[in-house]
Amino acid sequence: GITRHYKFNIWMQNVTRLCQTKSIITVNGMFPGPRIVAREGDRLVIKVVNHVPNNISIHWHGIRQLRSGWADGPAYITQCPIQTGQSYVYNFTIIGQTGTLWYHAHVSWIRSTLYGPIVTLPRRNTSYPFVKPYKEWWKTDTEAVINQAIQTGAGPNNSDAYTINGLPGPLYNNCSSPLETFRLKVKPGKTYLLRFINAALNDELFFKITNHTFTIVDADASYVKPFKTDTIYITPGQTTNVLLKTKNLTSNYKFIMAARPYSTNAAGTFDNTTVAGVLEYYTGDDMSSTNTSITGLPLPLLPAINATSYVANWTNKFRSLGGLKFPVNVPQNVQNRYYFAVGLGTDPCPINQTCQGPNGTKFAASVNNISFTLPTTALLQARYFGKSNGVFTTDFPTTPLNPFNYTGTPPNNTMVLHATKVVVLPYNTTVELVLQGTSIFGFENHPLHLHGFNFYVVGQGTGNFNSATDPANFNLVDPVERNTVGVPSGGWVAVRFRADNPGVWFMHCHIEIHLSWGLRMAWAVMDGKLPNQKLPPPPSDLPKC
Ligand code: C2O
Repeated sequence: GITRHYKFNIWMQNVTRLCQTKSIITVNGMFPGPRIVAREGDRLVIKVVNHVPNNISIHWHGIRQLRSGWADGPAYITQCPIQTGQSYVYNFTIIGQTGTLWYHAHVSWIRSTLYGPIVTLPRRNTSYPFVKPYKEWWKTDTEAVINQAIQTGAGPNNSDAYTINGLPGPLYNNCSSPLETFRLKVKPGKTYLLRFINAALNDELFFKITNHTFTIVDADASYVKPFKTDTIYITPGQTTNVLLKTKNLTSNYKFIMAARPYSTNAAGTFDNTTVAGVLEYYTGDDMSSTNTSITGLPLPLLPAINATSYVANWTNKFRSLGGLKFPVNVPQNVQNRYYFAVGLGTDPCPINQTCQGPNGTKFAASVNNISFTLPTTALLQARYFGKSNGVFTTDFPTTPLNPFNYTGTPPNNTMVLHATKVVVLPYNTTVELVLQGTSIFGFENHPLHLHGFNFYVVGQGTGNFNSATDPANFNLVDPVERNTVGVPSGGWVAVRFRADNPGVWFMHCHIEIHLSWGLRMAWAVMDGKLPNQKLPPPPSDLPKC
C-alpha cells in the first residue's frame, strides 16, 4: 500500500437548503465532506485542524484500527477532543476491508453536518468478487437539522428534512428548486455500483427506485453472498454496496428514487415524508439535460413505515461471501459470554422541568441498566497510563441488573444507574454477545455499533432470547460480518467476535438521541504478550483535555 495525505480544515460554512441559509460545521467548506479514496492496505494520514468554536473529534466509522486505537476518534473514549485552534493527525492503515465506510464527528451532535464517505477499493491488481461495474456512485443520507431533544430530555422531534448527498429532493416541499435534487445519470444496459451510507442522526431508512432491483454485494465493507432485492433497508451507521443493472431502454427516461424512515413506533412519529432523487437514463453521449421535471412519474412503493417483519426477513438474507479468498473466521468456541439488555429507561425529572418520559420521568437509555457517563478525560489514555482510578471501573455487568420479561409487562422500576463501567477482555479471547432489545417503552430498534472490530451476526429472533434453545440455531458457517447491527425492539441478535485489537472500544446505539441518553459502553481489550500484540504509545500530538 501507499500513504495518502489529507488535510481537513474544520470550518463554518453557509449552506442553503430548503430556502434557508444556515451556518454549519464542515470539512473544508463541503457538505457532505470530501470523499476519501484509498486501496486496501493503504495508510491514511489525515491532519484535522479545528477552526470552529466547538470541540471536534472525528471517527473513521468501520475502520478496524488494528493496533491504532489512538486514531479511532470518539471523544473521551480514545482521545480528548481537538480544541479550537488545535490540530491532530489521524494515522491508520486499512487492513482487510473493501467497500464503503465513512467518517463523522464523534463529539456532541456535530456529526449532523460533519461527515463524508470513505471508499476503499480492492488492492491494486485485484478485483471485486462480482461483475466489474461500469461506474461507481455513492450516496449518503442525513438529517440536516439538530433538534432540541438533548437539552430537554424530550423525545426526538421529527427532522426537518432528509437529504441525498446533502440535497433534499423534489418531493419534500415546494421550496426545493431543481438544483437541490439529487440526479443520478446512467446509460442503458450497464451495471453500476452504488454505495450507500445511512448518515441520518436518528432514522433507519428504506430506499427504492421505481421499477428497479438491486443486487446487494457487501455490508459494512465486507462482501456478502449476492442477493436481489427491490428495497434497501439501512440503519444509521450501516453502509452497503449494491449493483444496479440498468434497463435496455431505447430513449431517454426518468425514474424516481425515494427513501422513507422505518420505525416500529409508527404511531405519532414520522409521516410518510420522503426524500427523493431522480434516476435519469441517457441513450446518447450527451448526458446534460435541463429538463428536471418529474411530473407524472410514479413514486416507488416503499414498505410501510412500521414493516417490522419485512425488516426481519430482509436482514436474515445476509450471509458472508466466504470461500478461500474471503474466509469466515467466526469464533466456534466462546470464552467470554455476555447478555446485554439494550433500551430506554428513565431518570427522575429535574425540578422546574417538564419531562416527556412515562409518568413524568425523563428519558434515559442504558445497557444492562447502566447509563454510561462520559468521563472528562479519555478512557484510553487513563488506561494506558494506569490512571483509571476515579475515571472508570471494570465491573460492567455481564447480565442486566434488573432482569425482567422483555416482551411482557414492563417492570415497575425503569430507573437507570449512571456510571462509567467497562468490560475487560483478555487479548485474543472470543466473545459472544446477545443484545436483547428491551422494548420497555418507545418500541424502537437500536442499531448497535462496535468500534475496533467487525462482529459476526450469528443469530436473531423475536421475543426474549432463550439461552437453552436459541443457540442451537446459530449460524456458525457463513454469518454476515458487520460493525453495526439493528437490535429489534422486543427481539434479540447474537454476535461473536475475537478480542484481537488492544485498546478501549466504544459500543453504542447509532441513533444519536439514544447515544446521548446513555445507550453506550466500552470494552477494554488487553495487550497480548508479543510486541505486535500491543497497542503502541500515543502520538505526541494526542489532544489533552
Ligand atoms: Cu459511527 Cu461511535 O460511531
